Amino acid sequence: MEWKGIYKRRIVKPEEAVTYIKSGDRVVVGHAAGEPTVLIDAMVANKENYRNVEIVNLVVLGKGEYAKSGMEKNFRNNSIFASTPTRDAIESGRGDFTPCFFHQVPKLFSKGYMPVDVALVQVSSPNEHGYCSFGVSNDYTKPAAENAKIVIAEINDKMPRTMGDSFIHLSDIDYIVETSHPIIELPPPKIGEVEKKIGEHCASLVEDGSTLQLGIGAIPEAVLLFLKDKRNLGIHSEMISDGVVELVEAGVITNKMKTLHPGTIVVSFLMGTKRLYDFVNNNPLVEMYPVDYVNDPIVIMKNYKMVSINACVQVDLMGQVCSESIGRRQISGVGGQVDFVRGVSMSEDGISIIAIPSTASKGKISKIVPVLGAGAVVTTSRTDVDYIVTEYGIAHLKGKTLRDRARALINIAHPDFREGLIEEFKNIFKCEF
Ligand code: COA
Repeated sequence: MEWKGIYKRRIVKPEEAVTYIKSGDRVVVGHAAGEPTVLIDAMVANKENYRNVEIVNLVVLGKGEYAKSGMEKNFRNNSIFASTPTRDAIESGRGDFTPCFFHQVPKLFSKGYMPVDVALVQVSSPNEHGYCSFGVSNDYTKPAAENAKIVIAEINDKMPRTMGDSFIHLSDIDYIVETSHPIIELPPPKIGEVEKKIGEHCASLVEDGSTLQLGIGAIPEAVLLFLKDKRNLGIHSEMISDGVVELVEAGVITNKMKTLHPGTIVVSFLMGTKRLYDFVNNNPLVEMYPVDYVNDPIVIMKNYKMVSINACVQVDLMGQVCSESIGRRQISGVGGQVDFVRGVSMSEDGISIIAIPSTASKGKISKIVPVLGAGAVVTTSRTDVDYIVTEYGIAHLKGKTLRDRARALINIAHPDFREGLIEEFKNIFKCEF
């Protein structure tokens, strides 16, 4: 298809592009490091021309001004995963939250639960055939574009061109805004002694030849530090960050033993520094797919020896895991946690790990509690949970009675809280610890 003419004809200024958004529209915006920041700024600047535009997103790393107080006449934010800029909107009633497993988000758009009027996305420059790559964020962004009535795209010449099922043809973009700005970076997390200890425990559960999923934050990154002596690891993960690059370069991640997509890293979005973004650019080692593929438990289970490592807010003595709220306050979402916990449970020799520091709020609060806080969300159920790891050790809950789970969890709680937990244990289970 002749695409160069289409490209030229569809280029507009950001101010014009956002005039195609109309009051009452549902606008799905790209997220995380792929957030189309120029388009979002233009949309916010045009706010007086909108009433009740619904903004749908997950991880907001940008300003999220449309969710701020004073914008409620113009925009209503609907998060599927709350982030710092959207938490207050949800809590105060200015915004909404829609619970959804990450792998099912594309279905919301394609099956009529959440029809998409406009997709605001950011993509790479076109290749010689007119295909732009979704770059660092494919996940729900590509499906949103495929299901939208109107696609408005920032074509950013700094967006890496990632491989896999990661492309959109220029002819499928209605309005193009050319931009050139660095991709949002997430600096490497600070890894302290507690995280290192947790990383060491998790790494002890990872066998050579395993395929890994790693969540966001200091703990997954710390786990990578302790994998340097392993052999032939693989990656099938919703997200990766810089630590993975180091292990590829060290020859630890080879993907050779993967039973699905051998030889390649399979991932749905990326959050890290320029080092990661340069690494994935035009690199067939890394394949990006939409999240309804990467996070589908039926797909995940095809990886032999799959290990998932994620974090949580609280775990109760039955092994119910809250990963997304503090009491009623929604601080994040289910994301891909349950997708992986379930996929892994069906994988041959797969294990799922929830890894956490034993305390929060500078040691004042135990993350292992007798019962979850009032209003807390059960993200991973006690029936799905497998391993819980803290800096004090490993609790393997699968197959254990409620009593034995509670014992195992108390044994890895912070020593300052063990006595109180043992008292609760005696009240709950009517027996000695
Ligand atoms: N009680 C009260 N507050 C708590 C708490 C507890 N038990 N546990 C954590 N917090 C607070 C922290 O103090 C922090 O507060 P702050 O933002 O004011 O500093 C906040 O909750 C976040 O905790 P932190 O430990 O810094 O979070 P994190 O960045 O390691 O993320 C989760 C942890 C659980 C929020 C995050 O992993 C998540 O959202 N998981 C669900 C989705 C998922 O697992 N997806 C799959 C992988 S991509």
